[in-house]
Amino acid sequence: MKATKLEPARRERPRDAAPTSPPRKERMGKAAMLGALMVAMMLVPGWACAEGTMDAASVRYLDNLLVWVLSTDRTSYAVGLNELDELQTIYWGGKLESDQDLSAARLHPEHASFDSRETMSNLEYPGWGGRYYNEPALKVTLASGVRDLVLKYASHEIRGDTLEIRLKDIQYDLFVKLTYKVFPKEDIIRKQAEIENRTPQAVTVESAQSGVWYVPAGEGYGLTYLTGRWAGETQLVREPLHPGEKVLESRRGNTSHQLNPWFAIDEGGVADEEHGRVWFGALGWSGNWKLVVEDTPAAHQVRVTGGYNDFDFSWPLQPGERLSTPPYYGGFSSHGFGEASRLMHRFERNEILPDRAHPHVRPVLYNSWEATTFNVEEPGQKALAEKAAKLGVELFVMDDGWFGKRNDDHAGLGDWYVNPQKFPHGLQPLISYVNSLGMDFGLWFEPEMVNPDSDLYRHHPDWAMNFPGRPRSEARNQLVLNMARDDVKEYIFGVLDKMLSENNIKYIKWDMNRHFGEPGWAEVPVAEQKEIWVKYVRNVYEIIDRLRAKHPNLEIESCSGGGGRVDLGILERVNVVWTSDNTEAFDRLGIQEGFSYAYTPKIMSAWVTDVPNLNGRSTPLQFRFLVAMQGALGVGANLNKWTAEDSALATRMISTYKSIRETVQNGNLYRLFSPRQGGLTANQYVSSDGKQAVLFAFLHSQQYLRPAPTICLRGLDENATYRVKPLDDKLVEKQEALSGAFLMRHGLNLDLTGDYDSTLVILERME
Ligand code: DGJ
Repeated sequence: MKATKLEPARRERPRDAAPTSPPRKERMGKAAMLGALMVAMMLVPGWACAEGTMDAASVRYLDNLLVWVLSTDRTSYAVGLNELDELQTIYWGGKLESDQDLSAARLHPEHASFDSRETMSNLEYPGWGGRYYNEPALKVTLASGVRDLVLKYASHEIRGDTLEIRLKDIQYDLFVKLTYKVFPKEDIIRKQAEIENRTPQAVTVESAQSGVWYVPAGEGYGLTYLTGRWAGETQLVREPLHPGEKVLESRRGNTSHQLNPWFAIDEGGVADEEHGRVWFGALGWSGNWKLVVEDTPAAHQVRVTGGYNDFDFSWPLQPGERLSTPPYYGGFSSHGFGEASRLMHRFERNEILPDRAHPHVRPVLYNSWEATTFNVEEPGQKALAEKAAKLGVELFVMDDGWFGKRNDDHAGLGDWYVNPQKFPHGLQPLISYVNSLGMDFGLWFEPEMVNPDSDLYRHHPDWAMNFPGRPRSEARNQLVLNMARDDVKEYIFGVLDKMLSENNIKYIKWDMNRHFGEPGWAEVPVAEQKEIWVKYVRNVYEIIDRLRAKHPNLEIESCSGGGGRVDLGILERVNVVWTSDNTEAFDRLGIQEGFSYAYTPKIMSAWVTDVPNLNGRSTPLQFRFLVAMQGALGVGANLNKWTAEDSALATRMISTYKSIRETVQNGNLYRLFSPRQGGLTANQYVSSDGKQAVLFAFLHSQQYLRPAPTICLRGLDENATYRVKPLDDKLVEKQEALSGAFLMRHGLNLDLTGDYDSTLVILERME
């Protein structure tokens, strides 16, 4: 689309003049005619329910209405100017039929509540000041001491799928550029803000949010989010939204196990997998983040503000400097949580992941950690590699223990040179052997950390994050390197680059096993020390970006003591994530279900490990395989202990996985039975071309004589016929082919019995 730019003169006003403009009045004529309807729209829950099609352009400016419309294939998002030239969210939801509807949906500041005019005005990017009592998007202290911001429209520009709107304070040259990017096919919109100081003196930014997503004002919404802990990540929580604030956040320096920067809000709190309106969003940031979910008591305005966590945040902006905020994504589904997840999955695969331009399926990997822990050495790793290759493994990853004096977790972190006792001839013999077996080689690093017992720490004690002279907390016997320092960043980049340049390493597992403590940065002026939270993450991102640019075939796994660093920011840079250190298959069903609400199975690394697992539970090997085959399959067991029967089953399962992984990783997921409800978990994947569907089913524990429930499939063509290929004899229906209508309406019956029984059914569409 042709770039549209409003010439600045059209919007220029005297610095402290009241924001009125003659052209606005003319153009508002149409909207004014609909005034009565506007009030009505504003007071009822729900902006509009119509869905249909509009002009094909993804970004349009409706000059007569002062409205910008962002359109995806099935949704609309609209912002517009009110009579004070403030930018408001007008609409977010299913696609609107016409521009008239958008004008009807707009809100006016004079319909203020007694508490605060903004309660009702849906400010798109509210600066803190005046009678603004909700979560602000921006809070600053100006050099004059003024802490009040009034942001008004300054200019805008449209470039293809991107819209930029610039706001400016009514008096000071403090600008905010809001950038919107539309992803039409995926029904996702990205928001981002950049704050620019063009005043002659420094200003201090105290809160910088990426934006606010509003859902229609109303009561009775449900909030869904992901919580957890080490070894128990991505647990799904659903709860009613009540007046007040609910803060989801990380103050730990990374994304965190405890909360994940994703949310969903559903109408009435009753949406299910297939039904109901669901608004969802996610932040792309791997440091301290915050999502504030508000239901304002007076007006039931429901909003989610997201961006950098303002806890311990302070950012001095010198004249001419800018501060950009993390990307904040939003989407809408009118078909429940199932569609919301599928939209996220498709978006991540098409627009976020590093292989988005040339997608390829994840290889089956082997990882040494649970088999050997720190006891890695050349002969032992070679023996495991040989066994792994025979099973059909494609990528062999050596985990912790190969470097420095790393015999346990007390020493060695920071010393990224090969341990000469364990590998007397370096890594080359092992890598060559792995390659000769037809596998790629991957290696574990924990670049952001240092053990006090390491050469790196002895040479650079000041590189560890701390407040000088104060106590310093260790976790897992390690300290966090201050990656915000550019000298530390360069050193770490150099070490990794050297390892990658000298060895045929195709894959890095990038671990981070503790959170921040004592985030001191004594080397910079006190006013800048709180920048550590953001600069740390930016430097980690930069290292990864530079490594990838220099080693284009490199793939990276994000790990943080399991799933502590999973978000849309790191996912732009890594190919896969370690989901959890909890590899126990039954626990995994719940972890993986929560994960799938926000993240595609393609990046969900899942290993088959030994039993009894950490929680003492033992599930059959087939059950463990089928659980792990629902994501990016890996094996993390001690293969030396496997029987010939185990290896034979594993070989069959890996081969089966290879025949369905395109569907699992790149297809559409339908969650049929949740592990949170009842005694059966079932998930179905349908390939993007509709030619293959795969059903995974897991019985938790059978009550005597009670059969597993019939499973009706979804997402098939009811008029098509599907060849039925069960993994074993547990499918009750013995026909070789069944229609889509039968599969979706009558469903399949599975003869699952006892504890932890499981099966798989593959369906292939016949021409
Ligand atoms: C934590 C990871 O989550 C594990 O998979 C393993 O890599 C260990 N760190 C190694 O120390």
